[in-house]
Amino acid sequence: MEIRKATSTDVEEMQQLIQQFADIGLMLPRTIKSLCEHLQCFTVAVEDGKVIGVAGLHVLWTDLAEIRSLAVAPEAHGRGVGRQMVTALLQEAEHLGIAQVLSLTYQTGFFEKLDFHIVRKESLPHKVWKDCIYCNKFYHCDEVAMVYYTSHHQVLRPAREA
Ligand SMILES: CC(C)(COP(=O)(O)OP(=O)(O)OC[C@H]1O[C@@H](n2cnc3c(N)ncnc32)[C@H](O)[C@@H]1OP(=O)(O)O)[C@@H](O)C(=O)NCCC(=O)NCCS
Repeated sequence: MEIRKATSTDVEEMQQLIQQFADIGLMLPRTIKSLCEHLQCFTVAVEDGKVIGVAGLHVLWTDLAEIRSLAVAPEAHGRGVGRQMVTALLQEAEHLGIAQVLSLTYQTGFFEKLDFHIVRKESLPHKVWKDCIYCNKFYHCDEVAMVYYTSHHQVLRPAREA
């Protein structure tokens, strides 16, 4: 199995993989156009010439990126494919100087294993919610917000006493 950046020849399989989970409400669907426009954001897992995993890192602001469209083919679940793709995206975030990586997810157990922490959705900046208008759960979003802090994250220290 190989983890690598996506190329244009992967797009159709990426779309089908995402659609499979979008159909059961686990994630937002992606069009071929949207995948092409953001192709540089995506990493794939490939085995025997077949795309078995996809995940994207979308930079939202100078200090914030989001993991989107994370999907592993059902027959490949539990083999570390998701972990390897997310680890690759976190390395990318480190390289880009991003301080926090966000995931809006139902898979809290998976992300906890990767050192993400649950945060209050109200604490997130408005730009995070830009694409949520396309979601039919806009008014009753039940996803959990989880954040990973990279080495660029500044820990706020209490002000020194005078
Ligand atoms: C969530 C998903 C990406 C995980 O991918 P995966 O390749 O099966 O996960 P991995 O094998 O890399 O698992 C890594 C670790 O997380 C654990 N894990 C995986 N899914 C889990 C879950 N739903 N709850 C708790 N732990 C989970 C594994 O047991 C493993 O633990 P270990 O390192 O102690 O052995 C995959 O189940 C999936 O595609 N789900 C459907 C789409 C989806 O919900 N995507 C998330 C959108 S944010």
